[in-house]
Formats: sequence, structure tokens, C-alpha cells
Amino acid sequence: MFERISHKIRSGLSQAKLRLEPRASPTLAAVGGGGPNPGVVCRSSMAQGEDRDQAPLSLPDYEARARELLERATFDYYASGADDELSLADNRAAYARRRLAYRVLVDVSRIDCATKVLDTEIAAPVLVAPTAFHRLATAEGELATVRAAGAAGTIMILSSLSTTAVEDVVAAASGPVWFQLYVYRDRKATEGLVRRAEAAGCEALVLTVDAPRLGTRERDVRNRFHLPEGLSVANLLPAGYGAVAQPPADSGLAAYFAELIDPSLSWVDFAWLRGLTELPILLKGVVRADDAQRAAQLGVDGIIVSNHGGRQLDTAVSTLDALGPIAAAVEGRVELILDGGIRRGTDVIKALALGANAVCVGRPILWGLAEGGEAGAARVLEILREELELGMTLCGAPTIESLSRDLIVELPG
Ligand SMILES: Cc1cc2nc3c(=O)[nH]c(=O)nc-3n(C[C@H](O)[C@H](O)[C@H](O)COP(=O)(O)O)c2cc1C
Repeated sequence: MFERISHKIRSGLSQAKLRLEPRASPTLAAVGGGGPNPGVVCRSSMAQGEDRDQAPLSLPDYEARARELLERATFDYYASGADDELSLADNRAAYARRRLAYRVLVDVSRIDCATKVLDTEIAAPVLVAPTAFHRLATAEGELATVRAAGAAGTIMILSSLSTTAVEDVVAAASGPVWFQLYVYRDRKATEGLVRRAEAAGCEALVLTVDAPRLGTRERDVRNRFHLPEGLSVANLLPAGYGAVAQPPADSGLAAYFAELIDPSLSWVDFAWLRGLTELPILLKGVVRADDAQRAAQLGVDGIIVSNHGGRQLDTAVSTLDALGPIAAAVEGRVELILDGGIRRGTDVIKALALGANAVCVGRPILWGLAEGGEAGAARVLEILREELELGMTLCGAPTIESLSRDLIVELPG
């Protein structure tokens, strides 16, 4: 694919006008494609021809651009939710149901959005969520992502299902990397993952607890989603679980989960994991206050309030709706991070005002990678930080601590 995209990176890190080289997409190579999927017509206004060189201004702009650039099956895999995609939509709608009652006459000449999670300083309360298979978006894959996260001064949570080995990702990092863990039926292989993440230098483990099986993402079933030749679940190659093959009629990833991921995982296994490692452990995928309380009692270091971006149980409660009761239940005893539907700086403000210490973004990073590799992902994080800073300015909330509940107005109904 020969897509020449020029855009200005406004960060202090790079003022240069970037000319991106031809993108060596492994997906495209594998399926023999030479450009955007011919089955996908131009659907975004950005791609209608009048100004293709204009840089995306917002995260939704990045999504529109990615829709143009990615193979259909890849875009669908990244974008989709389970079943009717109601939770996917509601993760977003929950932000629109809350409005901001901003303060006036506050000195906002200095805005400080730096904060700490698990004692790690980050430049803004926005982390990179664990998402699988970055090399479907850009040839450098997770290496591009980890560099972008480092440039933004934040943490990357690396998926178990990365297309680059954890050792290589951490070696390329300039900031902290946490490791997201799926528990395989093969506990020895799982233990091997934990050991490797620890030895590589990951600073925390994120145990995903909302995916005993994969939710039905119908787009993936229709596309019979699988990894093309040349790509694998790199961390699981030594255990022999590297391939996500194309089944006769299903999503290859759903089949992979059904065969390999341990659906018997339960609260009693926390002691097993705690005994394996000294690293801090966060649970990802919690939406209930009683589960959060139990996790806190068991000694987890953090909870990621998440419904997997609406990709698991459809009609699951939106994460912003789930957050308030969880924050009340854990009373600050554990770190609270939220993900799902964060697309604007004001979304970050609302999540923090309702009790989160930080948020993660999933899909927007993939859109950034698709559009511009490392620079694209870095720009996505930068836009979010710029929007957050402006939002804090206009809210009369110059520090993270000043993002309090009183800023939120819940719309009736
Ligand atoms: C393409 C894709 C792959 C994902 N892979 C993983 C994964 O490997 N492990 C995990 O815990 N969560 C995974 N997630 C869920 C994300 O960590 C996160 O919960 C979700 O993307 C947040 O919603 P957002 O995309 O609206 O920001 C994935 C999400 C997407 C979109």
C-alpha cells in the first residue's frame, strides 16, 4: 500500500512534517491486497477527496481514517462489539448522559494533569489499554505503540495476545510496561508468561477476568477472522499456542479462546497468581461493587472497571455507570482505572470526577497506528491530553485533585 500521508505533529517532541513510507501491512501482504479493501468505499468525509492531507483533529477523525486504510476484516475485528453492540454504544452514550457544571473565576493559568498510578508518575491520567494484534495495523506493531506511550509519558499495558514478544516490547520502551494476562488451561504455559513478563521488566500484571470465553463478535464470525501468515501470538509461540487459524465457520479467535483459555478461573486462583509473582496485580473487567470489594479484600492493587470495550457480554452495564458504585465500595483502598468509550478530554474529566484515578484507551490507539504508526498513536495520546487540558481549563479545575463529583450533572431519564 502506498499511502503518502503528511501531517504536522504538534508535540514538543517533533515539529517535523512527517512523510510516511509505504506501509508494509502484513495483513495486506498475506491476503494479496494492494490498497484499501476494494469492497470498502470511501465512507468518511475526510476521504471524499477535498483534503486528504489534512491531519485528523480528533479521535473520531482517526477512526474514520482507519476505516479507509485497514483491511475490512481487520477494521471489523478492531471496531466490533458483541452481538447487537449495545454495550459498545452505551459505553459512549454514558458520557453524553452526564454534563459538566463548570466553575468560574478560578485561576487556570497553569494546568497540571500529571498524576500517579501505583506510584508510577504519568504525564496525564490516560494509559494504553491492552489490545491484541497491533501488527495488523502497522508493520512495527507493538513496538510502535510502546514508543508512542513512552513519548506521551504514560504506561502501555501489553496484551498476552501481542504480535511482538514481551521481551522485544519492553526493550523498545522508554516508559513503564504492564503485562495483561490471560490464564490458559495450560497453567505451566501461563506461569511461563508471568515469569517472562517479570524477567522482561514489566511493572505490573493485569489479570483479565471478563473473558472465560469470547463474546460473539458477529463481524468476526462472518469474516472468519484469523491471523494471516507471518503473524502469531508471539508470547505463546514457545508453548505452541501461537497460531490463530481460520476455522471452517467461526471467528478464529473465538475458537482459540474456547480451546485454550481456562473457563474455570475463579476467586480461589488469585492466591495461585499472587504466589507466582511479587508484581502488583490489577483485575481487569470488573463492573460490580461486590466483586470490586472482594478483590480489594483479597489484596489486589488495582481494578480496571471495564466491559472489554463492549466485546464480551452484550448489554453489560456501561463502565461509566458501573464506576460510581465501585468507587463508593472500595473507598480509595485500591487504584481504580476505567476503560471503554474514552474518546474526548471531557470523557476523561467525567471518569475522574466520578472516582477513577486514570483511564485507558483501546481502539483509538489502533486507529492511530493504522493512520501513522508510532507517530499516529503518539498523536492520538497527545490530542487526548490537549483536550483534557482545555477541558480542565474551562471547568475551572486546574489539577487532577480538583476533578470532583460536583462537576457532574446527570441528565434525567
Ligand atoms: C481490538 C481489541 C483487542 C483487545 N484485546 C484485548 C486483550 O488482548 N486483552 C484484554 O484484556 N483486553 C483486550 N481488549 C479490551 C481493551 O483492553 C479495552 O478494555 C477496550 O478496548 C476499551 O474500550 P475502547 O476501545 O472503547 O477504549 C481489546 C479491545 C479491542 C478493541
